[in-house]
Amino acid sequence: MPASIVPSGIHAWQMVASAGEREDTRRSPPFHLEQRFLPLGALAPGEALVQIAGCGICGTDLGYFYDGILTVSRPPLTLGHEISGTVVAGDASWVGKRVIVPTILPCGSCGLCRAGRANRCLAQKMPGNSYGPYGGFASHIPVPARELCEVPAQAAIPLELLAVVADAVATPYQAALRGGLQRGDRVIIVGVTGGLGIYMAQWAKLLGAEVVIGIGRSPDKLAQTQAFGVDLPLSAAARSPREVRKEFRSLCRKNRLDARSGWKIFEMSGTQAGQETALELLAYAGMVVVVGFSPEPVSYHLSRLMAYDAEVRGTWGCPPEHYPYVLDQVLQERIRIRPLVATRPMDRIRETFEEIRERRCGMKRVVLSPEGRGDGGH
Ligand SMILES: NC(=O)c1ccc[n+]([C@@H]2O[C@H](COP(=O)([O-])OP(=O)(O)OC[C@H]3O[C@@H](n4cnc5c(N)ncnc54)[C@H](OP(=O)(O)O)[C@@H]3O)[C@@H](O)[C@H]2O)c1
Ligand SMILES: [Zn+2]
Ligand SMILES: [Zn+2]
Repeated sequence: MPASIVPSGIHAWQMVASAGEREDTRRSPPFHLEQRFLPLGALAPGEALVQIAGCGICGTDLGYFYDGILTVSRPPLTLGHEISGTVVAGDASWVGKRVIVPTILPCGSCGLCRAGRANRCLAQKMPGNSYGPYGGFASHIPVPARELCEVPAQAAIPLELLAVVADAVATPYQAALRGGLQRGDRVIIVGVTGGLGIYMAQWAKLLGAEVVIGIGRSPDKLAQTQAFGVDLPLSAAARSPREVRKEFRSLCRKNRLDARSGWKIFEMSGTQAGQETALELLAYAGMVVVVGFSPEPVSYHLSRLMAYDAEVRGTWGCPPEHYPYVLDQVLQERIRIRPLVATRPMDRIRETFEEIRERRCGMKRVVLSPEGRGDGGH
């Protein structure tokens, strides 16, 4: 790759604080998105400069932008942590390779990294959160080369679509590992219609779950989940968590399933109601794996865990070491992404954030592409 194509800086869409607009976050978000040029200094040893092909928009980005959830690096910063691209400079052994950038970039040497918990390394960097000004809604990003996941040259899926592997696909895989998901398990996914939830359903089936119950709100989306591993859809629309539990029990009766014990429940909605539903469904020898983030607390009678001999576990990201396996499952289309991704040009980022916030994208995760490509439609 000739040195002349290495840019002098990065074109980035940054989240910038909007002065005096904090009072009513529903009408005017506390931030706006502004295109900025970030001059690029020399790369550090071991770093690679990735020219971004695509960056997916995660529920977490909307949480930072609209809901006042704090990023570790303070704005102005570039959001976006679901990145694919091509290495254009830096570590010579990587230049020219197509890559996925893991969402979590661990330090690789601390106690947690050495103990196999690299995804929760305290010195980790996450683009669009704890990586200074850098994120995926940009032309380029410098990253430590050692964590990159190579996309094989013969891969048939367009590189920009593969951005979703970094988070929407990899995070539920790690959630499955955290939940010890194995053949024969009975699984419930709360928020199954979401960007992460629909991959949780696919992983559950691929890993051999006996039955997958998917809980969501929109009837259209719920109906589609059956093509992606959900055996029994259950609507949470206009139902309280207790009413969802009642419906769950009747679904179990109809399908001759034991409602009272052994369910692994994955909470992927990132809402208070979704978390309350997951806890409401938790019963004997069961487990809740918390994937979604809600700013609202929930209250729970902890002693029920004792009486149920049950567990609640959190899960954060996915260690880079699992990415080659996750990518391979996607390239073999054992985990299907093509029908679940839409693309838009990155310069339409503002309209696209609104589009997603207003839930006008159906069940598709939207990937922004800096080169102006994009299907433009729905
Ligand atoms: N742990 C991690 O490492 C990690 C990584 C990435 C993301 N996250 C978090 O995971 C959450 C999901 O992210 P995402 O990108 O998948 O968001 P998303 O696409 O907005 O998905 C959330 C889904 O939950 C559904 N939902 C809302 N309330 C519900 C309820 N009461 N019961 C059942 N379903 C409900 C929504 O349904 P409708 O569309 O019908 O409203 C939506 O489909 C977010 O909180 C995000 O911050 C965590
Ligand atoms: Zn995310
Ligand atoms: Zn570490």
